[in-house]
Amino acid sequence: MSTILLAGGAGYIGSHTAVELLESGYDVVIADNFSNSCPESVKRVEQITGKSVKLYEVDIKDAAKLENVFSENSIDAVIHFAGLKAVGESVEKPVLYYRNNIDTTLSLLECMNKYGVKNIIFSSSATVYGEENPVPYTEEMKRGTCTNPYGWTKVMMEQILEDTAKADSSMSVVLLRYFNPIGAHESGMIGEDPQGIPNNLMPYVAQVAVGRRDHLTIFGNDYPTPDGTCRRDYIHVVDLAKGHVKAVEYVMKNKGVEVFNLGTGTPYSVTEIVTAFEKANDIKIKYEYGQRRAGDLPESYANADKALKVLGWKTEKNLEDMCRDLWNWQRNNPQGYNK
Ligand code: NAD
Ligand code: UFG
Repeated sequence: MSTILLAGGAGYIGSHTAVELLESGYDVVIADNFSNSCPESVKRVEQITGKSVKLYEVDIKDAAKLENVFSENSIDAVIHFAGLKAVGESVEKPVLYYRNNIDTTLSLLECMNKYGVKNIIFSSSATVYGEENPVPYTEEMKRGTCTNPYGWTKVMMEQILEDTAKADSSMSVVLLRYFNPIGAHESGMIGEDPQGIPNNLMPYVAQVAVGRRDHLTIFGNDYPTPDGTCRRDYIHVVDLAKGHVKAVEYVMKNKGVEVFNLGTGTPYSVTEIVTAFEKANDIKIKYEYGQRRAGDLPESYANADKALKVLGWKTEKNLEDMCRDLWNWQRNNPQGYNK
C-alpha cells in the first residue's frame, strides 16, 4: 500500500485525515514541530485505528532536517497541512507567517524534487477567493484580494505549486480549498485544541459550553444577510478528512494541477449555528452582539459540484452531527489534550 506523508499531520485536520487514511489501508508518516499541536493527538489516532504512525518531530522549514523523513521512507504523496493559521496574528506578525508558511512549502518541494516524489495535496482555503468574487465560489474564479497576510500566504503557495507543476509535467498537484471545518471524530478522542483564546467560532462556543469562557461575542449583526450575522459553509472535519482520501487517489492517478472546493454548499449564519449547538446538545450558550471583526466577509460558501463530479466526494454529515461531535470531544477533553 502507498505511504502518505502528512506535513503538519498532528494538527486538527491532519489528525482526522490520518485516521481516514489508515482506515483506508494507507501507511501514514507524520512530520510536525508541534508548534500548534502535541504528540498526544497522534497517539490517539493510533488508538482509534489500532495502527501505528511513524512520527517525526521536525521543523519543516528546515529542509536539511526534513530530508531525513524522505530518506527513511518511500513516500508516494505528500499532504501539506503545515502552516500557521491565525488570521489576526498574521496581521500583527506578517513576517512570521510569510516565513513559516512559504518556507515549509519550499522545503517540501525541494525534498520532493530530490527524492522523486511527484504528488502533493495542499491545504488551501476559501479565503483565496478574496473580496471580489460572488458566492457561491467556484474553482475557476480568479483568486481575489485577501484581507490579511495569512490569506496572502495561501494565494502565494497556490501560485508556487502551480508554477512548480508547470515546470515539471510529471508532477501532480491538488489544491484543496477548505471552507469552515468544525466538529470532531465521533469517538471524541481527537478534535480541535486551540492554544489560548480561540479565534474561531465553534471552538469558542465549545469552551463557553464547558465553562472555560463566560460568553460568546457575536461579531456584528448588521450584515446584509437574512439575520444580520455572517454566513459560512461549515463542514464536518471527518467529511473533510474523507475528501483527502479521495484527493490522494486522484493525485496519484493524474498529472498537472487541479483545484477543489471542500465545503457543503450550504451556508449557516452565526446565530443559526449557535442555536443548532444549543439544540443538539441541550445546552444554553450565553452570548451578546458586539462590533464587526475587521476583515470578515458577510458570506462565504462553496459550490461543491466539482468535487462530487471529479472526486466522487460529497459531505455526509449534517449540522447536528457537527454540533454533537464537537461537544462530545470538548466534554470528554475539557482542557483539550492537556486533559
Ligand atoms: P493546525 O494548526 O491544527 O495544524 C497545523 C499543523 O502544522 C500543526 O500541528 C502545527 O504544529 C504544524 N506546523 C506549523 N508550522 C510547522 C512547521 N514549520 N514545521 C512543522 N510543523 C508545522 O491547523 P488545521 O486547522 O489542522 O489546519 C491545517 C491546514 O489547513 C493549515 O495549513 C491551515 O491554514 C489550513 N486551513 C485550515 C482551516 C481551518 O479553519 N482549520 C481553513 C482553511 C485552511
Ligand atoms: N465569530 C463570532 N465570534 C467569535 C468568533 C467568530 O461571531 O468569537 C464569527 C465571525 O465573525 C464569522 C464566523 O463567526 O462571522 C466564523 O468565524 P471563524 O473565525 O470561525 O471563521 P472564518 O470564516 O472567519 O475563517 C475561517 C478560517 C480561516 C479561513 C477562512 C476561510 O479560520 O483560516 O475560514 O477559509 F481563512
